[in-house]
Amino acid sequence: MIGKCAFLRIAALFFLLGVAFSCKKENMSEEISQALHAVKLQVPVNFPPVMEHVENPLTKEGIELGRMLFYDVRLSGNNKISCASCHRQDLAFSDGTALTKVGVSDRALTRHAPVLFNLAWAENGLFWDGGSKNLESQALGPLTSADEMFQDLNVLEQELKADPDYVKRFGIVFKDGVRSVNVIKALSQFQRTLISGTSKYDQYKRSEPGASLTESELLGMNLVNTKCKACHRGELFTDNEYHNNGIDATFNDDHEGIYQGRFRVTFNPLDLGKFKTPSLRNVLVTAPYMHDGRFKTIDEVLDHYQSGIKISPTTDQLLYQNQGQVGIPLTQKERQAIIAFLGTLTDHEFITNKKISNPHE
Ligand code: HEC
Ligand code: HEC
Repeated sequence: MIGKCAFLRIAALFFLLGVAFSCKKENMSEEISQALHAVKLQVPVNFPPVMEHVENPLTKEGIELGRMLFYDVRLSGNNKISCASCHRQDLAFSDGTALTKVGVSDRALTRHAPVLFNLAWAENGLFWDGGSKNLESQALGPLTSADEMFQDLNVLEQELKADPDYVKRFGIVFKDGVRSVNVIKALSQFQRTLISGTSKYDQYKRSEPGASLTESELLGMNLVNTKCKACHRGELFTDNEYHNNGIDATFNDDHEGIYQGRFRVTFNPLDLGKFKTPSLRNVLVTAPYMHDGRFKTIDEVLDHYQSGIKISPTTDQLLYQNQGQVGIPLTQKERQAIIAFLGTLTDHEFITNKKISNPHE
């Protein structure tokens, strides 16, 4: 998805943004004007604390603007694609496709569209290889990439300036009004509010009235806690780290090293084939799986962990769970229990919540 040309353009933009941000270093935390309503993230009590983003403080108006932009096809060069084309709410903001072709070029992307939730805790890089530092820099990728939204940022500003409602909203939220860096800031604000923490599991964890798990779900929870949680850790079900979970043993450098995983970012040979641990939350609605969407079902994922792990110098030691051999042995009953437990992580409230749905419909 990152062609050379697009990559250079993105690099140039980073440079410009860097200059823009560094000019006002002495005043890093943007002041919120009187007309705005500051918002604190609603952190579920069983979640870890969240870092505040002082350089892009959340406001009710900024979040609402970001939501409008997220679902607006005018963000793409051909005015047909929005962020939501590849990040659908009903699929926990993934897209149900291994390598989507919905982008402006019709060419398949080289990676699978990940879920978007609990991003306020993603403090160790975005993208499957952590190639993007934070939400503010991430959005430039899809906006300008030829295979995604292929938008000229000057054209985008003009299009948005032609819409009085946007002009008014941008003017309220940002001192300098409609600008592409503000598009990105608003998108980031909206995305930080995408918190998934109202699943059956959460209700159980918070001992909410009437919340309970079945015997099989409880067995599954214990199994996940012992066999998977070294990586799919804590209440976010990810350690935000990079691991090689053994889906490949060789890593070619086609497509600018996109299959080399974290190595593409760090150039450390110990990072070959390592990808960011995805959350297990909502996983039953986000098939297909892995960075290239190669596994169609959870059963295929469990087959992989049980008997398909490939050995290479970077295959994670945590996968040697079969008396020192690679693999995670599971009985049929245990597999069913794990799937039952994963079902309790589906957050129906989140995937149907009207407050984060398409405001243009
Ligand atoms: C054509 C499909 C497509 C469109 C349109 C698209 N994305 Fe994505 N998105 C992807 C893919 C594929 C990835 C994974 C890329 C990678 O890891 O190399 C991704 C990754 C992301 C991530 C990183 C998530 C994480 O946990 O690492 C964020 C955030 C994101 N997209 C937000 C957006 C926003 C905001 C927009 C609109 C400006 C957008 N996307 C438009 C396909 C798309
Ligand atoms: C060594 C760390 C590690 C362990 C242990 C581990 N995983 Fe993973 N898991 C990962 C990584 C890394 C990925 C992403 C790999 C990729 O995309 O190439 C992943 C991907 C997945 C996915 C796909 C999610 C998606 O959105 O694509 C599922 C489902 C999954 N693991 C379930 C499990 C289960 C169930 C267990 C325990 C039986 C487990 N994992 C154990 C690291 C681990």
